[in-house]
Amino acid sequence: MNDSEKRGLTKFVHMGCATCHNGVVIGGNSYKKIGVVEPYETKDMGRFEITGIETDKKVFKVPSLRNITKTGPYFHDGSVGNTR
Ligand code: HEC
Repeated sequence: MNDSEKRGLTKFVHMGCATCHNGVVIGGNSYKKIGVVEPYETKDMGRFEITGIETDKKVFKVPSLRNITKTGPYFHDGSVGNTR
């Protein structure tokens, strides 16, 4: 791991990203609500559409961040980084 990668990892951990994006593929272990810090506009109600449980509204699977630079576009609706 080079210095830039080390700085990035430190930031990732300190900012709390690893609370959700963790484990072997840096994600894939849990479902979390999106739009907690800033509202996220989406018609997709996430897990709620399958479970019908009120608290599952806007809850999505935490995606793996493995090879993240190559796996865009991002988020369940592909709304970010659609450069292809
Ligand atoms: C509370 C849990 C949580 C935290 C903390 C969190 N994330 Fe996420 N992250 C998610 C969820 C859930 C999604 C999927 C959202 C969706 O599909 O719309 C996601 C999606 C992403 C994606 C898009 C991945 C893809 O393939 O679409 C990236 C990149 C990302 N997060 C990076 C970060 C970074 C960097 C941090 C720290 C600054 C962070 N996350 C903190 C839960 C979290």
